[in-house]
Amino acid sequence: MENFSNDFGPFSSIWINTSHQGALPKSAVAALNEAVQWKISPHHLASSSIFSSVPSRLKNVLGSLINAPPEDIILGNSASYGLHLLANGIKWSSGDEILLVEGDFPCDILPWLNLKKQGVKIRAVKPRGVGLQPEEILENIGKATKLLCTSWVYSYTGHIINLPAISEICRKKGIKLVLNCSQAIGTQPFDITWRWADAITCVGHMGRVSAGLILNFARIWIIIKLTGWRCRQLMI
Ligand SMILES: Cc1ncc(COP(=O)(O)O)c(C=O)c1O
Repeated sequence: MENFSNDFGPFSSIWINTSHQGALPKSAVAALNEAVQWKISPHHLASSSIFSSVPSRLKNVLGSLINAPPEDIILGNSASYGLHLLANGIKWSSGDEILLVEGDFPCDILPWLNLKKQGVKIRAVKPRGVGLQPEEILENIGKATKLLCTSWVYSYTGHIINLPAISEICRKKGIKLVLNCSQAIGTQPFDITWRWADAITCVGHMGRVSAGLILNFARIWIIIKLTGWRCRQLMI
């Protein structure tokens, strides 16, 4: 196995938190320092090719991680932001229902709540065990259900949903699956052509994904457009 230890540190103790407070790799530290220099003199930045080449390189790298074309990657500042955009970009009708998961990370809950004002019903499914099971989704889908939003890996329990099975249920029932891939991308195999989700959002500051994203101090969310997917076309 490749030895990555030289890419990190120096450490004076053993540090195993690679998520909430993961250590920056040295390459990210160098990129951060360079970004600070650019921000000290932003007048150079405005006329520099780096202004567009950095986001473009980042989109390419992220795209290669999940086999998505770079033009389908949208850079943003948080996982929440991606979900807010989806919640507000989809055309809803009064009576539509959105399924969420009780106990899920707050960013998967909050963006949808405002839709109640439009008459959209928000229902949180309470998992019987530690994590949401495919059959629990099936049991809770009703005629008005239009969308399910869930984490792939639950932050508080580490539970990993059975994504292929849940995805299959949603597809068969004609329900859009919005997946929060934070904690998952970089650790779980994922290829956008598998069509496991209709849209995904992800933070960029955790685990292996973080390296490229620290450049602009921003966390990142990505929404993947599957074939023909456009936010405004997601009329459900
Ligand atoms: C599952 C999950 N989603 C999202 C986030 C972060 O959300 P946001 O980028 O909106 O702060 C975290 C942790 O910070 C998380 O564990």
